[in-house]
Amino acid sequence: MRKVLAWPGSSLAAALAAQLGCECAELAIHRFPDGEQLVRIDTDVTGCEVVLVAGLERADAKFLPIAFACDAARELGARRIVLVAPYLGYMRQDQRFQRGEAVSSRTFARLLSSVADALVTVDPHLHRWTKLSQIYSIPAQVVPAAEPIAQWIKQHVQSPLVVGPDAESRQWAARIASLADAPCVVLEKVRSGDSEVSVTLGDAVPAGRWTPVLVDDIASTGRTFIAAAAALRRAGLHNPVAVAVHALLDEESLAAVRMAGVHEFVSCDTVEHSTNAIAMAPALAHGLREIKNAPDRAD
Ligand code: R5P
Repeated sequence: MRKVLAWPGSSLAAALAAQLGCECAELAIHRFPDGEQLVRIDTDVTGCEVVLVAGLERADAKFLPIAFACDAARELGARRIVLVAPYLGYMRQDQRFQRGEAVSSRTFARLLSSVADALVTVDPHLHRWTKLSQIYSIPAQVVPAAEPIAQWIKQHVQSPLVVGPDAESRQWAARIASLADAPCVVLEKVRSGDSEVSVTLGDAVPAGRWTPVLVDDIASTGRTFIAAAAALRRAGLHNPVAVAVHALLDEESLAAVRMAGVHEFVSCDTVEHSTNAIAMAPALAHGLREIKNAPDRAD
């Protein structure tokens, strides 16, 4: 038997349980006055495959409760624990950019691999690491958001021109464009600080009256979309639509993106956000069916 255990308030967890046709119970998390956290599982997990749905945005605060929940589920008799982290944090620090820096993605992968039996996530930031298996020692399934994003574009945008704002986004932009039967261009980005970003046109823009659709895996400060919108404007293109797989930006940054001329901003529901418009539960359910070889604790 399978049961979904949900991070408190996760609507994606409820949608995923409905897709899987199984029970969904929320974790109870209590924060003590000193800031420490207590996790309680209020459902019987004996013999179950537990699907723990907990996104790893703001991972510093969430990792420990997730670890506590995994250990508790195991001690209460769960057969195996699959962590569904729709957003997988700490993937961008994938090398030592400056002397002395921690390679956080590798350390975080080791920690998560020590608490769950398997991992399912949506489009992690794979760049210098090209596969999760390079850093995760548990089976890890990547669920792509390209198909649902392409469907959204087909249904909502006339004459879309898919635009990747930087070289790293080419992998997502090219796939989405092909699924949406749209042309694709990729811009060139230079990031000189957390909020200092400049973008120039790289690929030539095909002739035609296009609606540019910026697509990126992550929107955090929103600066990439802001700089990309400016580059498109300089090239004489219309104001763009923007699609982020994972919307991490706060409302102030979102307002700045809109002020920069992005007339519509949507995201997948991997991170709860006011811009969520693209449902990932069906694709995640498919990813869960695909994941194999996670050892059963009963074996
Ligand atoms: C980085 O390479 C990612 O793909 C995104 O482009 C980046 O994280 C976006 O961040 P921000 O919204 O802060 O510009």
